[in-house]
Amino acid sequence: MKFVAKTLMGLENVLAKEIENLGGNNIEIVKRAVVFNGDIELMYKANLFLRSALRILVFIKKFDAKSPEELYEKTKSLNWTEFIGLNQTFAIDATVNSSIFTHSKFITYKVKDAIVDFYYEKYGRRPNISTYKPEIKINVRISEDQIELSLDSSGESLHKRGYKVESLDAPLSEVLAAGILLNTEFQNFENFLDPMCGSGTLLTEALMINTNFPANILREDFGFMTWNNFNNRLWKEIKEEALTQVHEPTIDFYAFDKNRKAIFATKKNLSMLKYGNRIKVDHKDFFKLKNCERFDFIIMNPPYDIRLKDDEILSFYTNIGDKLKQDCAPCIAWIFSGNIKAL
Ligand SMILES: C[S@@+](CC[C@H](N)C(=O)[O-])C[C@H]1O[C@@H](n2cnc3c(N)ncnc32)[C@H](O)[C@@H]1O
Repeated sequence: MKFVAKTLMGLENVLAKEIENLGGNNIEIVKRAVVFNGDIELMYKANLFLRSALRILVFIKKFDAKSPEELYEKTKSLNWTEFIGLNQTFAIDATVNSSIFTHSKFITYKVKDAIVDFYYEKYGRRPNISTYKPEIKINVRISEDQIELSLDSSGESLHKRGYKVESLDAPLSEVLAAGILLNTEFQNFENFLDPMCGSGTLLTEALMINTNFPANILREDFGFMTWNNFNNRLWKEIKEEALTQVHEPTIDFYAFDKNRKAIFATKKNLSMLKYGNRIKVDHKDFFKLKNCERFDFIIMNPPYDIRLKDDEILSFYTNIGDKLKQDCAPCIAWIFSGNIKAL
């Protein structure tokens, strides 16, 4: 089977490494995605373990089409009974980057018509469309005249890990946080601090990586679970085996924030994870932090609120730099911000 793991721009190499570690074959990096080969077991593992993937697509067919009619005919010629049962519901999701096909909604209708007509001609009836929780999700990707049809094995985006029960303003995506962390060497240090933790995404993802807690083990729903070939026994075995690999943290984790709501949210989210209750989360202002030099690895995602005046945000970031240099040396510090100018 051929898979396409989708990710965020810039995380392709991290994802490729994760896939290699998981046992994927013929790995190829493409824009915002990694293509690889494997079997159904690898597909389950990819959904369970990959931290920097947004979704895992199972490749159905690639072909070229120069008109909507050609797209319709070539789509209709596939044997859809392999993928969608007559009594199942389905939905189509299209991403289009083409001068020939310009409207993704139109593509969605064209592909839907082709699939529906395939069933009408063969059986005189058809599976129903469902936009809310379809049993089968078909993904259409168009780049100029190249059409790629896939099955979405993940369902909801994999950034929805299942631990974020409390959120504040501007939380980082879990996939982005994991991707940033996998690009660092935080695992080589004795302690880890996020001094502006917000709802704690960097911290929770770091704890999961460090303890081998599978990225998506708390999720109850995956797209593949409503497929006719779903092997529940294999899925359970993979999960059980994964849980035997979870171990105690090897790093002392700390998280602070000057907002009490952030402390509450971080603790609540951490409580969903094994060993989460052991993490020290405190109400503290980074600029007043004492003995900062005791921290080896500091990572933060400071506010980058564009509503603040430029000079306020610039002096805020200057103060962060000064605090790190004056009080926290010789730590390694990573700052992740959406405000390039301030950085
Ligand atoms: C962009 S949010 C962090 C979001 C976080 N990465 C997440 O995923 O939820 C920035 C956080 O910095 C905190 N903060 C701002 N100034 C601070 C300071 N001087 N000391 C500690 N925390 C501060 C804010 O309260 C806010 O929670």
